[in-house]
Amino acid sequence: MTERLILDCDPGHDDALAMILAAGDPRVELLAVTTCAGNQTIEKVTRNALAVCAIAGIDVPVAAGAAGPMVRPQMVAPDIHGESGLDGPVLPEPTRELDPRHAIDLIIDLVMSNDPGTITLVPTGPLTNIALAMGKEPRIVERVKRVVLMGGAYTRGNRTPAAEFNIIADPEAAQAVFGASWPVTMVGLDLTHQATADADVVARIAEIDSPLSRFVVDVLRFFGSTYLARQGFPAPPVHDLCCVAKLCDAEVFTTREAFVAVELTGTWTTGMTVTDFGDLLGRPHNTDVAIQLDKPRLWDMTVDAIATLSARSAVRS
Ligand code: RIB
Ligand code: CA
Repeated sequence: MTERLILDCDPGHDDALAMILAAGDPRVELLAVTTCAGNQTIEKVTRNALAVCAIAGIDVPVAAGAAGPMVRPQMVAPDIHGESGLDGPVLPEPTRELDPRHAIDLIIDLVMSNDPGTITLVPTGPLTNIALAMGKEPRIVERVKRVVLMGGAYTRGNRTPAAEFNIIADPEAAQAVFGASWPVTMVGLDLTHQATADADVVARIAEIDSPLSRFVVDVLRFFGSTYLARQGFPAPPVHDLCCVAKLCDAEVFTTREAFVAVELTGTWTTGMTVTDFGDLLGRPHNTDVAIQLDKPRLWDMTVDAIATLSARSAVRS
């Protein structure tokens, strides 16, 4: 059955790959892209989302959302994503107008106008839009099929030793999402650090030899340079891609049930996704936590999606 998704993102190099897989894999239907401030400001990430739509030929509504976290000062990540939020490639001019709705209204409209249990939310940035949408229309919680989010970690963070960026960027929003009754899959750093775009993968993408494949190679080249310089990774972990891959092929990674809560008041641990795989806290397990990646499966589908979109674009031109 085709999985139908709304991608809420902050492009972002890895968000861009998630958009491309969502548009290019026939097993999923991308209904809309919504943007939230995260890697960069809302203006920059929204412009980047429109640029990815242009180069990949993605023809779905794109709506801009939250310009910052619900209650805390905004954080951005130029150290990894650059000043534009998508440094590296030349960004094409947008070829479509933004949807006039706020992102949360687009999310609410789509979820409320489709049958219950038919739409998966895939947030790959801070969870501000998702928390605001469920606050404005609480009924979406029972209608959404699942939330598959990139964020958190059950071991170590990447913005602090305890906290991953998407969570600490808006911990109140994250706690609201984990605390709601909908099914949640947490795709944290423990999984996404396995999803590195190694040299052989980049070579396979380059061999497609299309404007889109060259764009993706430039995206990965810049992303790889900052991940090597800042975090010592020999190849960049393409975090957000893993969320969409799970909808394309559930076998792409394993999960384990756990109770997950977000620390809001820790002196050193604010934004930590406290993960209890057992019963230490006596809380019911509310989250499926991503554990082990099938890396070849991830990259096979991603290369195929880039080739599919490249061929589709060649036919159009
Ligand atoms: O910590 C990694 C996450 O933060 C990814 O989603 C990346 O795009 C940034 O948003
Ligand atoms: Ca992201």
